[in-house]
Amino acid sequence: MAFGEMNNDSGEAAFAGIIGQSSGLRHVLQLVEKVAATNATVLLLGETGTGKELIARAIHERSPRKTQPLVAFNCAAVPGSLFESEFFGHERGAFTGAHMQRAGRLELADRGTLFLDEVGELPPELQPKLLRLLQERTYERVGSSRTRNVDIRLVAATNQNLEEMVGECQFRSDLYYRLNVFPIRIPPLRERRQDIPLLVRHFTKKYSRQIGKRIDTVSEATLQSLMSWHWPGNIRELQNVIERCVILAEDAVLRLEPGALPAETQPAARARSSGQKAEIEAILRETNGRVAGPRGAAARMGVPVTTLASRIRALKINKHRFHQT
Ligand SMILES: Nc1ncnc2c1ncn2[C@@H]1O[C@H](COP(=O)(O)OP(=O)(O)OP(=O)(O)O)[C@@H](O)[C@H]1O
Ligand SMILES: [Mg+2]
Repeated sequence: MAFGEMNNDSGEAAFAGIIGQSSGLRHVLQLVEKVAATNATVLLLGETGTGKELIARAIHERSPRKTQPLVAFNCAAVPGSLFESEFFGHERGAFTGAHMQRAGRLELADRGTLFLDEVGELPPELQPKLLRLLQERTYERVGSSRTRNVDIRLVAATNQNLEEMVGECQFRSDLYYRLNVFPIRIPPLRERRQDIPLLVRHFTKKYSRQIGKRIDTVSEATLQSLMSWHWPGNIRELQNVIERCVILAEDAVLRLEPGALPAETQPAARARSSGQKAEIEAILRETNGRVAGPRGAAARMGVPVTTLASRIRALKINKHRFHQT
């Protein structure tokens, strides 16, 4: 496929930087268009790498709040002990080490949009506080009894099944209903394969421009492999594969090296991943399901929290099984 042969030029559907024309993506963008103008809470559901953050940004940018900040807060990236003060802020002397008062991330989002990523990771003890925030738009900093008001629009995201978590009493049902006002499911890439050629072209252009190469064609065999892979890491994974191909390209044709796509379907790889699953589960059992923090599984394994979190997702481990209460 020569890139020039593709009839539509951008495939961007008037959303800057959001590539794709599949009906699945178009439906998402229609919902974005409708909900952006309102103040409604949005819940973005989708596997890792499907574009939840990109869509959250699009909602903010099409909303009346677009001139105000969009503040992202990832519930999985902050250890439980620091969560409350990071999010709500704290007063001087609220805890050891709190030498000065500090505003929380929440306060920075005042009059703008708060993007609460991986909301399924919100520690149970903070769930009632988020619920109250959503109901009343009020909160207190840690160590303060003064109630503050904040004007935020919430966009939350998760790749977990919150409904199931509610059923297993890992997520409060009242909070779930508050979050689930306007759910948007972002389909995985394998359910919108027709977007693959457009994305391939987009990322090839992007990376070849970055490193100063001229690539104008993708080999048929490469395109076929890319179209048939199941993309567990979705668009992020595709993006990474293309970046690698561009770096390796020796002429104007984009080609996939043999074995470039992770051989997950091969028995050896499957055995490896089941060994890894057992190892992670054993460590989670010891840490009571805790991933982040100094006593969490990530610290024990010496890997970044985000890396372990994505392995847990990829291996479909339910870490909540290991929570001890
Ligand atoms: N439709 C798209 N067009 C162009 N780029 C996209 C599209 N969807 C996703 N991307 C890119 O793919 C990468 C992953 O997207 P994003 O970070 O929004 O995913 P996510 O759903 O938040 O993933 P995670 O659950 O792992 O946080 C980003 O670099 C993003 O820009
Ligand atoms: Mg994300």
